[in-house]
Amino acid sequence: MGSELIHRGFSVPPAEDVGLFSPKPQKNFARLPGPLRYLLVEQRLFFLLVGMALASLFFALASPSSSAASVVTRLPVDLALRSSLPAANGVGYWSTIERRSVGGRMPLGLKRKGLRVVVTGGAGFVGSHLVDRLIARGDSVIVVDNFFTGRKDNVIHHLGNPNFELIRHDVVEPLLLEVDQIYHLACPASPVHYKFNPTNVVGTLNMLGLAKRVGARFLLTSTSEVYGDPLQHPQSETYWGNVNPIGVRSCYDEGKRTAETLTMDYYRGAQVEVRIARIFNTYGPRMCIDDGRVVSNFVAQALRKEPLTVYGDGKQTRSFQYVSDLVEGLMKLMEGEHVGPFNLGNPGEFTMLELAKVVQDTIDSNAKIEFRPNTADDPHKRKPDITRAKELLGWEPKVSLREGLPLMVTDFRKRIFGDQMTTASAVTDN
Ligand SMILES: NC(=O)c1ccc[n+]([C@@H]2O[C@H](COP(=O)([O-])OP(=O)(O)OC[C@H]3O[C@@H](n4cnc5c(N)ncnc54)[C@H](O)[C@@H]3O)[C@@H](O)[C@H]2O)c1
Repeated sequence: MGSELIHRGFSVPPAEDVGLFSPKPQKNFARLPGPLRYLLVEQRLFFLLVGMALASLFFALASPSSSAASVVTRLPVDLALRSSLPAANGVGYWSTIERRSVGGRMPLGLKRKGLRVVVTGGAGFVGSHLVDRLIARGDSVIVVDNFFTGRKDNVIHHLGNPNFELIRHDVVEPLLLEVDQIYHLACPASPVHYKFNPTNVVGTLNMLGLAKRVGARFLLTSTSEVYGDPLQHPQSETYWGNVNPIGVRSCYDEGKRTAETLTMDYYRGAQVEVRIARIFNTYGPRMCIDDGRVVSNFVAQALRKEPLTVYGDGKQTRSFQYVSDLVEGLMKLMEGEHVGPFNLGNPGEFTMLELAKVVQDTIDSNAKIEFRPNTADDPHKRKPDITRAKELLGWEPKVSLREGLPLMVTDFRKRIFGDQMTTASAVTDN
């Protein structure tokens, strides 16, 4: 039985059937060299050519450089706005329509459903809220942070999620990662911290270099500080600002201005897809407790029953945006077609004394106010003109100060009183 099976595959047809299987007439390939003979017999050459054609077709479709979807076309879509600007000021305000996939240069067949996104400074206040939204959307997120002002606690709820990675790294050192989008937030954002750090220029240069290498889209979080102590009110994106280049705040203001310049240079010179957001004062849960920013200062002071410190006469104005509104704006900017810059802020305007009143109403109506001499180069007025963001991004803030402040107070209360260590060190630092 066994031998029958073995032999069945090799059995020769009975002699009477041989006519049915009569071999094809032999072509005269015998004299050709071996490899050529192999190709010519049994139409192997034909199959080889068909295979090559199919492979070429596949790679032609998969390669972004030859794909119609990847062609970048720049169109001046807001010509009306541009023509209303002074000639020398026009360049940065060209909007672009980019018909390119939102992500980097990856063959279609290998593309994943979610995007791979780097958030530098993702363990900080704004960055951690952005990470929450990206993860909820289904993206794979890599946070790059040196924890200078950020905290692991801000992202700890994502540890263990396979779509989340945390890398301790200082962006002033180069880094290579395969990603589709880069949200570049890494930068100490408060006066007590930013004087010690060259992040803005060197860090931005490194992240732009990464964007160029891997074909990622790059978003810079710039600031309303680029307007300095503004002579125009409210500030629109066409205003060039009034910045003291040698003042105590200039490392931040001029650093961000340089970061914007580098971003536009990479856009024009290296065709990197870029986006620029100019962020106005933002507040919310997870803000650094004692970093000298006015909302966090007032809230922490009122909770600790300390007087609220008002610098100068308290009549200088600021606009306060709740963090979820900002995150929404950043994501719309990243996904949209326009380079910017775009003001992202809440146009509601408050004097410092009005803000102190809202804090008193929310936390402690008996909180005292203490006046101190003003700091150098403190801007007198700040209020964003967000017309462009409304029109081109379809974005505007939704959360008012009186709605947003209690959410921040709950978080601060927990952090100040829920952890005695935090309370002790915060009181000493103050
Ligand atoms: N919050 C605001 O009101 C506001 C206003 C204007 C602009 N911005 C900009 O938004 C971004 C985020 O601000 P934020 O309020 O979340 O500040 P934040 O200090 O809470 O966050 C900054 C994060 O960057 C990290 N970081 C700093 N230097 C770094 C470096 N060299 N390498 C790696 N990581 C580094 C910090 O550890 C921190 O996690 C900043 O670029 C800031 O300039 C914020």
